[in-house]
Amino acid sequence: MKFEHKMRGNVSFGVNPIGCKQDVLNQIDYVKEQGHYEGPKKVLIIGASSSYGLASRINLAFGAGADTIGVSFEKGPKSERNLGSAGWYNNIYFKQAAEKEGLIAKNFVQDAFSHQTKQDVIDYIKAEFGGKIDLVVYSLASGIRINPETGERINSVIKSIGQNVVGPNVNIEKQEFYEQVLEPATEEEIADTVNVMGGEDWLFWMQALKEADVLADGVQTTNYSYLGSDLNKPYYGDGTLGRAKADCDEKAVHINDLLTDINGKATVIVATAVTTKASSVIPFFPVYCMGLYRVMADNGTHETPIMHIDRTFRDMVYGDKAEYDELGRLRPDSWELDPEVQAQTEALIKEINEGNFNSDKTGYSIFMKEFMNLSGFDVDGYVEEAVTIDDLKALEF
Ligand code: NAI
Repeated sequence: MKFEHKMRGNVSFGVNPIGCKQDVLNQIDYVKEQGHYEGPKKVLIIGASSSYGLASRINLAFGAGADTIGVSFEKGPKSERNLGSAGWYNNIYFKQAAEKEGLIAKNFVQDAFSHQTKQDVIDYIKAEFGGKIDLVVYSLASGIRINPETGERINSVIKSIGQNVVGPNVNIEKQEFYEQVLEPATEEEIADTVNVMGGEDWLFWMQALKEADVLADGVQTTNYSYLGSDLNKPYYGDGTLGRAKADCDEKAVHINDLLTDINGKATVIVATAVTTKASSVIPFFPVYCMGLYRVMADNGTHETPIMHIDRTFRDMVYGDKAEYDELGRLRPDSWELDPEVQAQTEALIKEINEGNFNSDKTGYSIFMKEFMNLSGFDVDGYVEEAVTIDDLKALEF
């Protein structure tokens, strides 16, 4: 079967399952090369199938030897024309690799926002997982949340607040560099985005897990945030997503209170900008990444999700090199926010135009390779395999 990369705007539809397998294996190799570290043994990852969540799962399993439960929302193969989503295959190939090493790897492919999913995970922990959870990683990114109480469908939007924002963006499908105008969000859109991407569901998960007595003494929980710099503040930090992230900071305080009696800790991890399915559709963000990646790659500090997450858990959460800010957030993003890096990025972005955006002057090729890798294309070490739709359908998740 031929695997084709298909796009609409900055959203990728095609998938190469064998490429996804290779990408998972490459990430596992990266972690193994860094060696073993002492970390958690029983981990729940919510949003486990791609980018930061997948990197967390791979890192904790193959770096710290953790058994993992992964919750994600992905689609399996239906036909040759509809092979499902990359995360579906990431879940499967992660599980295969982890089980080969004697680790438990359980996948729940269902809506993390629902009460039923929380109950299903709790039932599994009690009946089969063989121990209480000592780390919960919350790494969900979604455009939609079905309210678990009312069944109402709520959409998040990526918009500015109180001002129009004008800036450069790239349409990856059409290879166009264009000027985008972002309209400010309404009050309702702001509230809805906080509802979907804020910290409420993280809090609901921790309440449900605590109540069910499946959290170990000393449990930790983490949630990935992004703050960025003045270069992206108008559309991120000061926009709807920034509000949602501020809500996660607030919920971390509640969760810390909730976990006091079991000596638990909730930490917001302010992570670096990376190429993911979620970040590729943030207005202007691809151009920011193209500027930033060029500068950081030239400095030797550019990181993919697996590199960033490995450093975050190994050196910071479970190591002695943690950097916290005044709100108690962990700041592995300090490399990105280094003033010199930001000054160089700003200068470069000013020079990016339709004639050079996809040249080596920018980090375009780095961004594009990482973007393709997300769907299993252009993966290092990829070897073609003859597979049929029935082979893919027969894979067990
Ligand atoms: P992603 O789109 O690659 O992954 C999102 C995950 O959430 C997937 O596993 C998906 O299956 C899962 N998911 C979505 N809706 C679900 C649902 N209803 N039920 C169960 N699972 C569901 O996203 P990415 O970029 O890795 O983002 C993860 C977190 O990291 C987000 O909070 C994001 O804001 C944060 N972050 C991202 C940065 C970036 O540059 N991409 C930078 C810093 C933080």
